[in-house]
Amino acid sequence: MKLTVIGCGYLGATHAACMAELGHDVLGVDVDADKIARLSVGEVPFFEPGLSDLLRRNIDAGRLAFTTSYPAAAEHGSIHFIGVGTPQQARGLGADTTYVEAAVDTLVGHLRGDHLIIGKSTVPVGTAAALQARIDARTDDDTTVELAWSPEFLREGFAVEDTLRPDRLVVGTDPDAQCSAAVAVIDEIYREILETGVPFITTDWATAELVKTSANAFLATKISFINAISELCEIVGADVSTLADAIGHDNRIGRRFLNAGMGFGGGCLPKDIRAFMARADELGAHRTLGFLHEVDAINMRRRTAMVELVERVCRRELIGANIAILGAAFKPESDDVRDSPALSVAGQLALRGATVTVFDPKAADNARRMYPMLHFADSARTAVAAADVVAVTTEWAEFVHMGPDELDPLVRERVIVDGRRCLAPHIWAAAGWEYHALGGVNRS
Ligand code: UGA
Repeated sequence: MKLTVIGCGYLGATHAACMAELGHDVLGVDVDADKIARLSVGEVPFFEPGLSDLLRRNIDAGRLAFTTSYPAAAEHGSIHFIGVGTPQQARGLGADTTYVEAAVDTLVGHLRGDHLIIGKSTVPVGTAAALQARIDARTDDDTTVELAWSPEFLREGFAVEDTLRPDRLVVGTDPDAQCSAAVAVIDEIYREILETGVPFITTDWATAELVKTSANAFLATKISFINAISELCEIVGADVSTLADAIGHDNRIGRRFLNAGMGFGGGCLPKDIRAFMARADELGAHRTLGFLHEVDAINMRRRTAMVELVERVCRRELIGANIAILGAAFKPESDDVRDSPALSVAGQLALRGATVTVFDPKAADNARRMYPMLHFADSARTAVAAADVVAVTTEWAEFVHMGPDELDPLVRERVIVDGRRCLAPHIWAAAGWEYHALGGVNRS
């Protein structure tokens, strides 16, 4: 099948490559000429395991190409995915849907005949209905453009795997449409995946839009729940990691997303819960999502708690202290530093007068652009040189497996703060280090 993917950022580039991998003839479209030039030769402008190989393989096979041209997209075929970003508004908590609107407007201006647009971006409920009205107002009698919404659930770091082996496929269509071609077309596009038994949920636009924002709100709530419990654990000397294991054995609860620590960041969960609250307010449901304010507040509090823990255990005043920050990305296997708890902690420590040196295996360049006042090292060993406190802020495998004897001769003080509760405390204690975990005692 001939498909286009409009927007070649994280979501779009991965989606284009995965659709080509399924055997479709895919054209990726983006207004950023530099990005398109890089993608065209199989270079991924961000770090995502496995994506570059997938791009190259499909470009070489002649199934995948990239362009900045919307007329070329309109020519390429009649099925168009939209995967442009919906960031937080510059002046407000809601999602900024102007990129989606611009992409749809531009594309529709070039379409003739029957087309299907499948939105994948995360949008406030009601967006698809508004877009369909906008599309209808811009098309003449001999052109029909149907809009479906099929939210994306991929995680950074697992983007390829999540796209090719999703937990479910959700498609929302116009509840008032007399006839819809969308479900049959999407069934055909994803045939290979659906044959493996992946649940295929077909519904209306509003439900599909809400599925996505509810899923992210639930995940954020789960993380803030365990972090709230960790605040109690800190007071009474209980171990929140063991507690999470124990409650997680109950299948109704489940252990995943119950890792306490510095909380959630990235380009999705923080902005999505805020946009969800803003949308509920617009809809007059002012109290409905009030609990998400608390979810957000608990999450932001953990960053300050980490800063205070580092300050408390540091054996000298922060002014004049050397703090090594291991990890800048919002999570491992990613170079994304958007709303990263690690960088927020590093920045706050620097503002309190510490000399902060950051190391991250993949995210250093992005981090440097955002926080020019921090020092950046090119290895963990360089970052910890003469450190008064070593703080682990992103659980990259190389930090999890790092041994105290590697760092012993380098640091000024043998004090380590585990912001992600990912280290083995007894190993550090046995080597004579003072080990502290954010969220209270860690007996693992
Ligand atoms: C999230 C969702 O997990 C995806 O399903 C969704 O498609 C995506 O947002 C999106 O909307 O595009 P992602 O932002 O890649 O994916 O990252 P997650 O793996 O969800 O992690 C988010 C944050 O939560 C990270 O900072 C991570 O360190 C933190 N986290 C995660 C915890 O603090 N504790 C946990 O137990 C799990």
